[in-house]
Amino acid sequence: MDIRLTIDKTYGFVSKEAVAGYEAEVAKCQEMLHQGTGKGNDFLGWLNLPAEITDEHLADIETTAKLLRDNCEVIVVIGIGGSYLGAKAVNDALSSSFAWLEQHKPVIVYAGQNIGEDYLFELQQLLKNRKFGIISISKSGTTTEPALAFRLLKTQLEEQQGKAAAKDLIVCITDKARGALRTLATQEGYKTFVIEDNIGGRFSVLSPVGLLPIACAGFDVRQLVAGALRMQKVCGQETAFEQNPAAQYAAVRNELYRSGKKIEILVNFHPKLHYVSEWWKQLYGESEGKEHKGIFPASVDFTTDLHSMGQWIQEGERIIFETVISVAEPNHTVMFPHNDANLDGLNFLAGKRVDEVNKMAELGTMLAHVDGGVPNLRIELPKLNEYYLGQLIYFFEKACGISGYLLGVNPFDQPGVEAYKKNMFALLEKPGYEEATKAIKSRL
Ligand code: PA5
Repeated sequence: MDIRLTIDKTYGFVSKEAVAGYEAEVAKCQEMLHQGTGKGNDFLGWLNLPAEITDEHLADIETTAKLLRDNCEVIVVIGIGGSYLGAKAVNDALSSSFAWLEQHKPVIVYAGQNIGEDYLFELQQLLKNRKFGIISISKSGTTTEPALAFRLLKTQLEEQQGKAAAKDLIVCITDKARGALRTLATQEGYKTFVIEDNIGGRFSVLSPVGLLPIACAGFDVRQLVAGALRMQKVCGQETAFEQNPAAQYAAVRNELYRSGKKIEILVNFHPKLHYVSEWWKQLYGESEGKEHKGIFPASVDFTTDLHSMGQWIQEGERIIFETVISVAEPNHTVMFPHNDANLDGLNFLAGKRVDEVNKMAELGTMLAHVDGGVPNLRIELPKLNEYYLGQLIYFFEKACGISGYLLGVNPFDQPGVEAYKKNMFALLEKPGYEEATKAIKSRL
């Protein structure tokens, strides 16, 4: 069984023929990806990654994860953007919703994904007198947010454990040669994993960037990779256009975009998928939002957000379409009980599973939205586990590459993210930014 994409509820907004008409264009995009002839072709390391991951590499990840798990009550994963969201998405999707209250050890927490002083203070308090380890992730090795968090937490760890013991509780994932994090790791003798040059941050979840924190949380990275490998085949060049979910998704969302649907909302009916949407937003937002083009990727968690965003989606400006991620079979069963008094009037649900109510909410919402002018795509996961999350990740990555090329942009760069950094460094008077500091201060 595989994840399954359904697009028939977009027909009526775009024609079946128009979507089918993308076949040749998509084949060209596939060719550009697989032959490495398109824009950004030095960042295609993710394309065949599932097939290239060796048993030895996975064993190294697992051994390192076990060492941290055996020796830490808390593991702090430091990273931002592509060096954070993939692991967070998978770990949240697979963990108990109340993991923070349960006594599972180790607890995984995140840092370096913001510059919140209160957040860092509270984290320092949490780690006080606790045995903790650090996974510091930064491809460039120079990103401000994680670098700042790493200095703070490394200092705390050394104070609590002593420098020698702290060394064995720190793992760095970074470039093989460049960047401050590589220099620091080499000098301090930390265990390291390499992010290959040809894998961009948002495409790096199947590299050590995602795999180590996922293994540290106790999840099966071999199953994750197996799922991705399966999708590598299913979404490959050899699969016919109509059977290829990545090709279909890329084609239909571009046709919707060309017809005026400028916003795609990724919808889930499973609260654990919140961060899958956050990961997806970065993947598509950073890949396609350039040259004043690109679908704006948004997300909602249903049914929660039906009570906040539902009105807008049903009746706001008709520039949206939605892609629903649906999990066919929950991992647990809760039956709704009968009540003799029936004061809440819910006995019509007695004997049903809670998921049946959720599924009817999903179906009812889909029909209402289609009636209200919102085209609907649906991706069904048979279950929420490592294997199908691996499939979902690779499916979205492959579709993103194709979709970016259909749009005519380089899906693998992100020139726009530098603008805020330049201003921030100028305002902070970073050495080397003297001219920029003068210029920016004159504007204040
Ligand atoms: O996808 C990207 O390239 C970015 O989101 C980066 O992953 C993010 O900015 C973090 O960069 P780095 O890993 O170099 O610290």
